[in-house]
Amino acid sequence: MQIGNCLFAHLLICQFCYPMSTSRKKIAAGNWKMNTTLPEAQELFEAIVRMLPDVSHSTSVVVAPPYPFIPVASKLFRNQNNLFMAAQNCSSEEMGAFTGEVSAEMLRSLAVQYVILGHSERRKYFNETGDVIYRKLALSLKYSLRPICCVGESLKQREAGEQKDVVREQLEETAFMFDARQVGKIVIAYEPVWAIGTGKTATPEQAQDMHAHIRTLLTDRYGKEAAEGISILYGGSCNSRNAAELFKCKDIDGGLIGGASLKAEEFIAIAQSL
Ligand code: PGA
Repeated sequence: MQIGNCLFAHLLICQFCYPMSTSRKKIAAGNWKMNTTLPEAQELFEAIVRMLPDVSHSTSVVVAPPYPFIPVASKLFRNQNNLFMAAQNCSSEEMGAFTGEVSAEMLRSLAVQYVILGHSERRKYFNETGDVIYRKLALSLKYSLRPICCVGESLKQREAGEQKDVVREQLEETAFMFDARQVGKIVIAYEPVWAIGTGKTATPEQAQDMHAHIRTLLTDRYGKEAAEGISILYGGSCNSRNAAELFKCKDIDGGLIGGASLKAEEFIAIAQSL
């Protein structure tokens, strides 16, 4: 079953009840990837909830565990104002005979608020193209999930000086397909592929340069007010030692954290740097 064109036409004119934000959110998002067992996940959730009071109320702490552990966390996260549940992916199809897929609507029914889309591991290992990511974004927005839309260049592309064009093209086929109101619900994550899981972080200058580029692209397309309201996260070997320097940069509004989010003290220390 394919999603018809009429659905997308509907999505494009769909109005959301949330107002466009004027000041952007600071976000520390933990992407657990395919790690932890149920007891380990439970322990990590509990530790995060315990340490949450150490994080500023104005920082949103977002946790993206593997799908099966989401209901466990939902119970623990209830009544925590600045703690949010994310999924690491969702289907590009809305519902039906797609064995093994998890829909945006299912996630919404589990009180998930964010969904990571277009991660470079999904692009690389699961052949996700811009078109697939766009369809996932559209469904996430339809079901009031906030997508964290990932973009970033490979080492080869950076060495060839192509990083800004690559990121622009990735945005043009995903987040930039939406109007200003919808794009205001999207969080963008700049994750240079060469920095993910490698221990090699972008320097604050490299990261800020790309974030400013993304903000300029947003301004050109949607105007200054909309662009200033969109959070742009940095991801790629971010840890408690380098987070503060990165987060000091004007256009870096937080981090998408992989490995370092699997230790509660480390993850909370990163969130405290915001
Ligand atoms: P990393 O992963 O922090 O382990 O580099 C980041 C990510 O993939 O989102």
